[in-house]
Amino acid sequence: MVKSLVSFKQLTRKEIEFLLQKAYSYQKKPPGSILQGKILANLFFEPSTRTRLSFESAMKKMGGECIGIEGEERSSLSKGETLSDTIAVVSRYADIIVIRHPEKGSAKLAADASSVPVINGGDGTNEHPTQTLLDLFTIWQTQKTLDHLHLVVAGDLKNGRTVHSLVLSLHFFNPTLYFVPIPGLEMPFEICQFLREQGIKFSTHSTIEEVMPQADILYLTRVQKERNSIGAYSINKKTLERAKPNLKVLHPLPRVDEIDTEVDATPYAHYFDQAANGVVVRQALIVHLLEKCSC
Ligand code: CP
Repeated sequence: MVKSLVSFKQLTRKEIEFLLQKAYSYQKKPPGSILQGKILANLFFEPSTRTRLSFESAMKKMGGECIGIEGEERSSLSKGETLSDTIAVVSRYADIIVIRHPEKGSAKLAADASSVPVINGGDGTNEHPTQTLLDLFTIWQTQKTLDHLHLVVAGDLKNGRTVHSLVLSLHFFNPTLYFVPIPGLEMPFEICQFLREQGIKFSTHSTIEEVMPQADILYLTRVQKERNSIGAYSINKKTLERAKPNLKVLHPLPRVDEIDTEVDATPYAHYFDQAANGVVVRQALIVHLLEKCSC
């Protein structure tokens, strides 16, 4: 198992299943104060609600403490300190670091500069691996398997890092993928190339409705306006008329206009439970990385 979690490409199927099982065991029986005396540093250079607060909740539920930075302007990066120097110092204050940063590759840079485990909480348009862990946990719990599922992935596929990590992770599980991008916001070439190399079936479509009858999971993403994405789309109850009974609608959140609130009361809506799963999944990851760490 890796010292830091920067990319989903680092994980094997066995390691993913181990982490999901550990999260499940924590959901059934909370681990108690097993991290008393440990400190997690949350370094967030981009806005966040779920990722930051669920890491904090995860740590505090296990008796640990959190320190952190919110926004570059409130740290010495604003005085010209490099990210590497910042991490070198923070890794002397904390036992584990979570970083969210607008630059692709920043989490790798942080992991290289750190003497303690670093978790990528989202690096630009690149990846968001802990979101993917909780997405897989949610899919596994709702579908009772991760294998051979049909997933519709819709929205901003170009700049939505959550769908990048999700799609990379799914190659272990032989999925069938239906991409429904907003025009101009298609899945990046390198990710499609990776899927081709892995022999994963995927196709691109112009409407969600045309692939709805096949879907086990409908995974939606927000238009990433902060990354200059332009466009809009929305689903409502009518979009789901031909859904299979086991369909679940997932969304990493925050949503803007992608899901009409009338969907919230349907049995398909699962995005708030998905967000809730972030706590146990992050508990499992923190504990595992700390157990592996000899620092
Ligand atoms: N899903 C997610 O990453 O949400 P936040 O941006 O609120 O952390």
